[in-house]
Amino acid sequence: MKHFKSHISIFISVLFIYSCAPKPTLEVPEPYKKGQQYFHNVCSNCHGSDAMGKHTQAPRLIDEEYLADNFSDADIREIVLNGTDKMPPQKKNVTSDEITEIIKYLRYSQKAAGLELEEEDEDAVSTDNDD
Ligand code: HEC
Repeated sequence: MKHFKSHISIFISVLFIYSCAPKPTLEVPEPYKKGQQYFHNVCSNCHGSDAMGKHTQAPRLIDEEYLADNFSDADIREIVLNGTDKMPPQKKNVTSDEITEIIKYLRYSQKAAGLELEEEDEDAVSTDNDD
């Protein structure tokens, strides 16, 4: 019986390990929910909940450094597909449409966090990346 119990607890810890990707903590409007989901499936293990990068090896993406003017949608797509020295390529983990949704979600989150470039408001957050 003791033996049986320890098997159960191993089983439970294994389940826990597989389900403990950081969860989103922020509620986003409907159009960004898909992107949020994809981000949390694929990116949040490294980039943290809500892309805030706490306690993680990868940078916080909700940061001025990654606003559209500094780091374009195409740049993000390129990184996701091909990675960098330190980030493994995610080509196999996301489709092109999913990347589009993730970018939309990231742009929304940057705006929601109040990040905007001083010189322009209008074009800083672009979501028109359907190609
Ligand atoms: C296995 C961990 C891991 C995963 C998964 C991951 N990243 Fe990264 N990412 C990193 C690391 C580490 C860096 C820092 C890379 C560097 O400095 O070269 C990074 C950097 C980036 C950068 C900035 C690159 C730069 O030049 O500043 C972007 C944008 C990015 N990741 C987006 C994403 C997105 C979107 C996803 C999900 C589709 C994702 N990453 C998934 C680890 C990861």
